[in-house]
Amino acid sequence: MAPAVATTTASASTLPPPHFVLVPFVAQGHIIPLVDLARLLAERGARASVVTTPLNAARLRGVADQAARAGLPLELVELPFPPPGCDLPDDCQNADMVADNYQFLHFFFALPELAGPFEAYVRALSPRPSCIIADWLNPWTAGVATSLGIPRLFFHGPSCFFSLCDLQAANHGLHERIAAGGDEDRHAVPGVPVPVTVTKATALGFLIHPATEALRDEAMAAMRTADGAVVNTFLDLEAQFVACYEAALGKPVWVVGPLSLGNRDAETTASRGNTAAAGRREAIAAWLDGQPPGSVVFVSFGSVARKSPRQLREVGHGLEDSGRPFIWVVKEAEAAAPEVQEWLEALEARTAGRGLVVRGWAPQLAVLSHRAVGGFVTHCGWNSLMEAMAHGVPVATWPHFEDQFLNERLVVDVLGVGVPVGATAPVMIFEEDAVAVPREGVARAVSALMGGGAEADERRRKVREYGEKARRAMEEGGSSYENLTRLIQSFVQSEAKAQE
Ligand SMILES: *[C@@H]1O[C@H](CO)[C@@H](O)[C@H](O)[C@H]1NC(C)=O
Repeated sequence: MAPAVATTTASASTLPPPHFVLVPFVAQGHIIPLVDLARLLAERGARASVVTTPLNAARLRGVADQAARAGLPLELVELPFPPPGCDLPDDCQNADMVADNYQFLHFFFALPELAGPFEAYVRALSPRPSCIIADWLNPWTAGVATSLGIPRLFFHGPSCFFSLCDLQAANHGLHERIAAGGDEDRHAVPGVPVPVTVTKATALGFLIHPATEALRDEAMAAMRTADGAVVNTFLDLEAQFVACYEAALGKPVWVVGPLSLGNRDAETTASRGNTAAAGRREAIAAWLDGQPPGSVVFVSFGSVARKSPRQLREVGHGLEDSGRPFIWVVKEAEAAAPEVQEWLEALEARTAGRGLVVRGWAPQLAVLSHRAVGGFVTHCGWNSLMEAMAHGVPVATWPHFEDQFLNERLVVDVLGVGVPVGATAPVMIFEEDAVAVPREGVARAVSALMGGGAEADERRRKVREYGEKARRAMEEGGSSYENLTRLIQSFVQSEAKAQE
């Protein structure tokens, strides 16, 4: 497909195209949407540079090569990481490479040291980039942007509903009230156009842990000093929350999603996220081809959360007991213990033909867009929910932490496209032996999701409608398409001003 030329280039043909420098937080759920955005910007006539570390750049090589073959001005920029002297192994460059809670903290505290090499990279660029788009979790980019006088937008990965709740919670001192109250207390979130109540367990946000409080303060400060926000959602899904968020922030919110729909061909769809998984797609597609339309439930919990062996067993038995065909993604780290491996192999033997266990990374977008898939058991990471919605797949919701409990409220209570598995408390990333949801909960949610009946049909009807609206939003003339046009245009104009 020929890259669409931005409508802005004609009036600004004497100027170089605007140059966006994108700085994703180094976790899959954050890298994927920003790389999708970089690709879209490049397709629309802007230049896009994605700044990351060597391990992540290697994972993105397939995407970059493909963009190069299509003649798109998209490049990867590598900054050295981990910094010398920090207590992290060399390959600890992505949240999915972190081995334990100790490393997790060191990882978070090492990231701001990217500011030095980042500043050196930006300083050396001539002309200077038009705009930096940095993840909300990369507040260390703010100082660089300010000292070089470059506009900065923050990209926040969750639903706009979550971002609004989180901002209002901060503005109204809600976190302090929750901390002072009891575990069972329910608190209303003020300043949100629908009723939302949270408990101590579900009112989570990013960097809420006492050890990371200073980082959260920095992220909030960088959010308040940014020139605007970019969010991966679409107006037909979240218009009321977008309007309210824009008013509460007091700056423009560019609504440009679902970014996953920018991946229009099989190759980008399969290699997205992790090039190494592209070959796996064929085997999975062949298996799915043999299943009836809408019959398979896809089960995957994102790239970060790891389940204990006991919890893993409950998931497996729940899927087996549901009687439905399934694809279940189990992380390599989860399946590493010999007794887990043995148990998994026995489950595979018992469910042969009906169940497919994928170890490691799965090409999620390729799976969700297959016609055999009729439901998705998800951790409620926002990319996963957007991808499900964009492909008209209803969800069973199993939030783990951060924004996920509020994302669940949005899809279950507001949008009506989800059925909860019944998780009521956060599961931290490395929990030794916790069981948050028993097999009965898994089986019940899967049966409700995949079965017949008025409620299930209504969920399917609604989510299909959102899927159609999502597609329209991303087409020429659609709200997300036009927001991206305006985003590019506003930086063409500021460049023109700079040259006057
Ligand atoms: C995004 O598009 C909507 C609908 O066209 C519009 O109201 C809004 O102002 C746009 N946002 C920005 C930041 O331009």
